[in-house]
This record gives sequence, C-alpha cells and structure tokens, in this order.
Amino acid sequence: MNRTSGQENTGTWWRETTVYQIYPRSFMDSNGDGIGDIKGIISKLDYIKDTGFETIWVSPFFASPQRDFGYDISDYLQTAAEYGTEKDVEDLISEVHSRGMYIIFDMVLNHTSDRHPWFLESRSSLDNPKRGWYVWKDGKKADGQKPPNNWRSQVSGSGWHWDEKTQQWYWAAFLPFQPDLNYRNPEVRAEIFKMLEFWLNKGVDGFRLDIIGSIFEDENFRDSPFILKLFPDELNDGMFFRSTCMTQNLPESENFVKDLRKLLDRFDSPERFMVGETFGTSEVISRFCKDGGLHSAFAFECTAVPFNAPAFRRMITEYERCFPFPLLPVWAFSNHDRSRRFSALGRDRLKAKLNTAFQLTIRGLPFFYFGEEIGMSDAILNHHDSLDPVSFPFKKLPRPLFNLADRKVFGALNRDKERTPMQWNDRANAGFTTGDALPWLPVSPDYQLVNVENEAKNPDSLYNCFKRFLDFRKGSPALRRGSLRIMDEKTLPHGILGYIREDIDSGQQLIILLNFKNSEVIIPATAMLLQTGTEVLLSTETEHPAAPEAAGEITLSAFEAIILG
Ligand code: NOJ
Repeated sequence: MNRTSGQENTGTWWRETTVYQIYPRSFMDSNGDGIGDIKGIISKLDYIKDTGFETIWVSPFFASPQRDFGYDISDYLQTAAEYGTEKDVEDLISEVHSRGMYIIFDMVLNHTSDRHPWFLESRSSLDNPKRGWYVWKDGKKADGQKPPNNWRSQVSGSGWHWDEKTQQWYWAAFLPFQPDLNYRNPEVRAEIFKMLEFWLNKGVDGFRLDIIGSIFEDENFRDSPFILKLFPDELNDGMFFRSTCMTQNLPESENFVKDLRKLLDRFDSPERFMVGETFGTSEVISRFCKDGGLHSAFAFECTAVPFNAPAFRRMITEYERCFPFPLLPVWAFSNHDRSRRFSALGRDRLKAKLNTAFQLTIRGLPFFYFGEEIGMSDAILNHHDSLDPVSFPFKKLPRPLFNLADRKVFGALNRDKERTPMQWNDRANAGFTTGDALPWLPVSPDYQLVNVENEAKNPDSLYNCFKRFLDFRKGSPALRRGSLRIMDEKTLPHGILGYIREDIDSGQQLIILLNFKNSEVIIPATAMLLQTGTEVLLSTETEHPAAPEAAGEITLSAFEAIILG
C-alpha cells in the first residue's frame, strides 16, 4: 500500500531518525482559547525542521473528555474540537510530509475513556453485546463487594472498580475512568486494527503505543505475589509490596505487538513504525522488540542512572546487551509524565549540553520532549491547584510531603509541572497564546529568560548546541547507522566516557569523548589511537580548537563533549 504524499520511499527511515514529542495542549495555541491546537503545531513545523528534528510524535488529540488530557479517548476516529478538525489533522500530516519529515500518533489501545460509547454500552447490562469488550469480573464474598483479586493499578490502590448497576467489577490499569479493553475478545482486536488502518491510510508514519505492556492481564486472575518493595522505580517489577507480574509484560502482550507489526508491515513507502511505552528492565522490554515485534521501545532505566561516566558506561553496556543490532534502543530522558531532564540535571546548562551530545551520538533512537531544546524546567506549581488527575488523591497532603512523594515517583505525582506551555518568546504568555484567555496551565515564570527567541540569538546556548549536534548527525552515516564500540575505561582518564561509531560503507569513523567532570581533563594522545589528521569536528563548546594540541593531547573543559574524526 503506497502513500500518495509524494514523499519518496526512504526505507528504514525510522532507524536513523530523531524524534520531537509534542504535547498538543501546551505547544502552540492558534485560536486564543488558551489551549494548544493542531493549527498551532502546523504554524511551528518550520521551527522544528529548522532546529533539525526529523520526526514528530504528537500526544493524543482524539475526542476525549480530557480527564487525563487525551489519554482517555472517547472516539479514536474523531479529533477533539479544542484541538481542531479532521481536516486540520490531514493538513498536519501533509505539512509534515511536505517538509520531508515524519509523524507518529500516540495510540492508547490499552483503555478507553469510561465515556466511550463502547464502555457505556458495555456497562449498561450483563448481556449487552459489548459486555465482553472490557474486563469485567464478579467480586469476592457472597455479596461480591470485595474486588476479584489483589491487583493494583499503576497509579495506586486497587485497579478494580465496582459497577453498582451490573454488580460486577471492571479492571483499569491506570485511572478509574480509563477501563481496560479486553483483547482476549476478537471483536475488540478487529475494531482496533480497523481503526489503526484508518489512520495508516491517512498517511501517519507510525505510532507510539501507550502502556502497551499492560494490554493483557493474567487469564486466570491469580493474585499478584508479594514483593519486598514499597516505592515504584524504573525497573517496575512492583510497588506497594505487590509484584506486577500478573498485570504487566505478559507473553500475550508480546504476541499482540507481533500482530500489530504484521498490520504495519502491510504498509510501505515509507515503512510504518511503532515504539512502545513499556516499563521494566531493558532486558524485559527488549523482548517486545524481538522476532517481529515493536520496532523499538522506551527503556526508562536511563532516567534513573547517576550522571557520571562509569554509570553511563554500565548503562550503555546493558542497553547494548539487551538491544544488540539490529535492535535499536530508545534514548529518552524526558516526557509528559516525568520530571524534565533539565531539572533532573540541576538546571545546569553544561550538563544539559553533555546529555544532548550523548543522546545524539550514541547508537539508538533519540527522543526529545518539547522545550528540552531550550532548557525548560519543571514549573514550581502549587499542587493544591493541580489539574493532573494522578495528583487528585494526594491533593490534601502538605506541600513538603507531597513534594517528597513526587520525587519518589520521578515527578509523576503532579505532571502539570512538566506540561506548562512552550516558551516561545518573552512577551505575554511566552507567545504560546495571543488571545485573552489564560493558558490552560500557567507559563513557567522563567520564560522571560528561557525562551526560543533568546536561545536562538545566543550562539553558545543549549538550543544552538542542539542545532549543531542535530545538524552534524544528519550528515553523519556513522552516527545515523554506525556500529558502537565502547572505549575501555582503563585507557581513559577518570570521568571520561568514550566510544567509537563506525559506518563501514562510507568508511566514516568517529570518536566521541564526554567529560562528566566539573573540571578540565587532559586526554593523552595514546588513549585514543588518533590517526594523523584527526580533528575535533564538533564540540558542545563553541570555542574548541579543531586540531589536537602539540603532543596530540586533547583538553576537555568541564562537562564538554567532542566528536573527533
Ligand atoms: C501513559 C501516558 O504517558 C500517560 O500520560 C497517561 O496518563 C497514561 N499512560 C494513561 O494512558
């Protein structure tokens, strides 16, 4: 099946791309209602292209009561009125393609909104034909008033919710108003596959699949075993003393993505791509990518790794072990659910540049969250006013306690702070909306300093560092598709991470050196086996001398990264 956009077939484009995530509500408001929209995104496509990103991922814009800001879909085929029309979405796809870029949609297949007509029907009676479209179960005890088992949702408490009318419980892996679809029912699969086909036929280049590891639960509804762990972490084997093994990453879910892959593989010119939102160790997650499954999957382990050379070396080694070629790991440090990377790095611009250089030179698929390129931080908001439904049960906590709990769950307790509007300039509302309405979330007060206009003007800014690395990567076969060899730490001074990227076809070989120390480090020539004529091709600093020093040494300044070739 070919797309008619005029874009040439670039084969496995997705292996080499860079992805920019747009949270539509917060990106750009074109009609002055305080809520970002599709036309707003279209108006900023030139900015995204000019910055150097090649693919955009758009968080859900489908019809929704917006109780979880679009991750609660009530019609997969309609566009939410506040974001625009079907025509706007078609325009977005073709405007992206006409710039030689790609677009992926965010598909929430695990659950719908409880206001989706399917669920309204399903809950209307025990014998409604759609009853089996969701996961319903009798409760325990004679009166059924106790949940069927001890399964917990991903956000806290039991994931079972009582339906008074039909006297049964329904399962929701996330929030109570997001009932899980029942993929053991072939009708559900058929309907969902039809819906995906609808969008693929419209030319979308792929999907980001929301909590795809939660698609299936244990068929026999066995209790989750006890685990000695209170707080969640990025390894995600459990929390609050319950393992997740009955509700996440089941073999059925791994098989399900293979069926999705078969659907996507029916489309080409170009190939369509899927990346899964998965939770667990890299080892567990990589299973979803093997034997014709996902093209790639998020492994959020990286967000929890200390910012130093040995820890990063261990992390890459582990990712390479779990995602050997032709598998491809995703490198994402920020998104709409967790603290912004810039905040996690202590709002340190040098560290942020180093992190950027890492993401754009290591083997894998780099994903960035809007605003990351200009150093947007988590906004400081009062959680009593939060709009994020995840925070609602905790709203009454005093601020210090709330903040502590939020930190324990990587900033996911009140996700408003990482969703504040894009900071375009230093004018009213940071240029996000030009109407009278207030932005749906307050603009972060640092917008007068931290904004696109300011960052673009300053040659030494984080934004211009992003641009230089994106631009270099675009023209570098070694970075786009080359192999990776991690340099032996014994050959490098302490605090330095080094690796070699090589593309055999073009013969390009690059050495990447990253200084994780907050001080200058001299790297002796012997460490790098430099060939004559090797030069510093790019640095996170604007001032780095091109040629190595007299003795062939290279001096890296604090948190500097360089590419040699
Ligand atoms: C993960 C999404 O990234 C998050 O924003 C959403 O709230 C949940 N899944 C539920 O869909």
